[in-house]
Amino acid sequence: MRNPDTSGERSREWPRHGGQPGPLLTRFGLAPDTPLLDASANLNPLGPPAWLAGWLAQRLQRRPLALAGYPDPEYREAREAIAAEEGVAPEQVLLTNGGAEAIFLAAALQARERPGSLAAIVQPTFAEYARACAAHGLPIRSLSLAPPAFDLDVEAIAAGLGEARLLFLCRPNNPTGTLVPRADMERLLMLTAARGITLVVDEAFIDFVGGETEDGDEALTPLLARFDHLVLLRSLTKRYTLPGLRLGYLLADAETVHRAAACQPAWSVNGLAAALVAPLLADGDFARRSRTWLALERPRLAAGLEALGLVVVPSRANFFLVRHPAGQEATRRLLPALLRRGVLVRHTESFAGLDGGWLRLALRDAADNDRLLAALAGALTEAQEEGAGGGAS
Ligand SMILES: Cc1ncc(COP(=O)(O)O)c(C=O)c1O
Repeated sequence: MRNPDTSGERSREWPRHGGQPGPLLTRFGLAPDTPLLDASANLNPLGPPAWLAGWLAQRLQRRPLALAGYPDPEYREAREAIAAEEGVAPEQVLLTNGGAEAIFLAAALQARERPGSLAAIVQPTFAEYARACAAHGLPIRSLSLAPPAFDLDVEAIAAGLGEARLLFLCRPNNPTGTLVPRADMERLLMLTAARGITLVVDEAFIDFVGGETEDGDEALTPLLARFDHLVLLRSLTKRYTLPGLRLGYLLADAETVHRAAACQPAWSVNGLAAALVAPLLADGDFARRSRTWLALERPRLAAGLEALGLVVVPSRANFFLVRHPAGQEATRRLLPALLRRGVLVRHTESFAGLDGGWLRLALRDAADNDRLLAALAGALTEAQEEGAGGGAS
């Protein structure tokens, strides 16, 4: 269950996140301006909403203070809009500069109140939990999920926690796309409550779980009323495709939010992004179209990937973790073969326990998904020919 946190020398040479083609193009000897379909960053391909550019232009024209005035340091309007959508009190919402800041605030709060305490991270997962813990002087214990299913066994996780006082868990998990069922989360919440362990659940991709149904059923928000050691992290960046603007939030009981706010720099979220929250959440049409896209494209891409003979982890998110059935080296060869076909996917060299043996593919619109499948078909044929020509498989 326990692994030392070994990211390894080699992983440092790889870009840490998706959406960074430059270092990979250089690594594989391709021109830096090679046009690429980006299937490496997990963003909603329908966004940003069409009205956004006009909204920003108008805002700047009509409200000169949009840039020249400080935002409300309490972000009341944005927090009220989020609270209304989530069914919690505004005091339970902390607006953040993307989900990334929420992660760092969770670690900062822990470090302030229990300095140097052990933090457990369920791996393979998003690298920022480990970075946030390291930045705040929290030693890390990695708890591993086993491939190819990456299922979480609550009792095994609880047994592996040892002296940990903080647990980071991503749901659905990046990069596996797997979602720990709500019943298992309730069990984990009871076990961690009994041991005084704060449970931080990053639900950055929870908006992509539902697909065809309207329900936000899988979100853990209702459990906040029962468990005051539960902290939920969210990203609006992913849902509305705003990585350049950035928006996220943290949900917890009011007292925890108050203490986390004390760790946040003043005006951390810019005024334009904060003013956008209410209109974004009010855009029911965008939400409906996103659900329709997911309901159609996720099963279609999954079927296409399986038809190509890839090992595909069943995903509840807007991305798929896949590997070549012949193993790690064959999978590694797919990455440059895809780049040569104009498609950028996410390597897994920097994910603890995956070590490059898998690739993460973002779900995009129908045309891009077809392009991805065609490029994969070509890359697989090339990998097979290379393998037959004596390369390692
Ligand atoms: C699991 C997870 N949480 C949080 C984030 C950061 O979200 P944001 O871009 O809103 O800061 C990411 C971004 O990739 C992510 O994968």
